[in-house]
Amino acid sequence: MTAVLTDDEVGILLTAAVHAPSIHNTQPWRFEVHGPVIDVLLDEKRTLPTADPAGRAARIGIGAAVFNLRVAAAMLGHESRVAANPDPQYPEIAARIFLAARETQVPGLSNLYGEIRRRHTYRGPLVDHAVSPKVLQRLDEAARAERAQLHWLDQSELTQLGTIVRRTDADDLHDEDRLHERQRWIGGDRSGDGIQESALGPLPARPGFVRDLSAGFDSMHRSQAVYETQPFIAVLSTRNEDTAAWMRAGQALQRVLLVATSYDLTASFLNQVLERAAPRFQVRDLIGDCFWPQMVIRIGYPAQPTGGTFRRDWRDSFDQWF
Ligand SMILES: Cc1cc2nc3c(=O)[nH]c(=O)nc-3n(C[C@H](O)[C@H](O)[C@H](O)COP(=O)(O)O)c2cc1C
Repeated sequence: MTAVLTDDEVGILLTAAVHAPSIHNTQPWRFEVHGPVIDVLLDEKRTLPTADPAGRAARIGIGAAVFNLRVAAAMLGHESRVAANPDPQYPEIAARIFLAARETQVPGLSNLYGEIRRRHTYRGPLVDHAVSPKVLQRLDEAARAERAQLHWLDQSELTQLGTIVRRTDADDLHDEDRLHERQRWIGGDRSGDGIQESALGPLPARPGFVRDLSAGFDSMHRSQAVYETQPFIAVLSTRNEDTAAWMRAGQALQRVLLVATSYDLTASFLNQVLERAAPRFQVRDLIGDCFWPQMVIRIGYPAQPTGGTFRRDWRDSFDQWF
């Protein structure tokens, strides 16, 4: 058993955790360290009541942070075990990570550590270069290792997704509450959290398979670009639909993204179709009835690199030390 974590180890672990993706870069997490145990708590003040009333997306972000913690722990030589919703008396504790001295190698985890700071969401156009079947298989394996699955959309499913995306985007444009909520987190100059304009990517010259997160409000300095017509899009899904499944989806998402980064692939997301019940059910039909869609991932090689987003210092989300 690892008795306590040193200050340096806590810094390394939590720096890795906060580099996880989260919806609108809200970073909806807080951390507590109790000896060799790290609790990850849902920070209600950083959730999105309109786009994410159940906290599904927030927990996916927390799951991604948990995966980064596991990777950093493996790099430091610790074994980790994760419990979702560990204490019914404290439902705000989303995950508890138990660290112990490693007795056996943790294959496939510590070698992803270097990808944590390289990964960021890329919303620009992708080059017309197919992702090889071998790499797609590695991404499938990454999802399965976390008990989730990727469903790669074929041409006819892509056409159907395109229709669902266009309808949802049109509805979103007329939804004042969603618009205001996005405006609170997206656009302009930012530091610490949210998505600054430079990370939004160029405006699509034609509607395509990329989400314009600033649709409906002014975006002053963005150029236009033509996007790829044959994107690689996968739906990440889980068999169950509850808070534990959302955490699992987040860990699977981050494992897929870090493996993708190791092959110089980038990703962005079309999750607007999962933020409303009706289009989410349509996506569920698309991938086969028995799985719950959790993320719609567009993946490929970037044509023109854009900058990443900022993070709060890990100490800002670090509550107590026992
Ligand atoms: C649950 C979830 C939903 C997301 N939905 C979208 C989306 O629909 N479109 C998008 O471009 N990015 C989406 N993102 C990516 C976040 O905006 C991104 O992770 C965040 O801004 C931090 O930036 P980074 O990924 O570059 O570190 C989503 C991320 C998560 C975890």
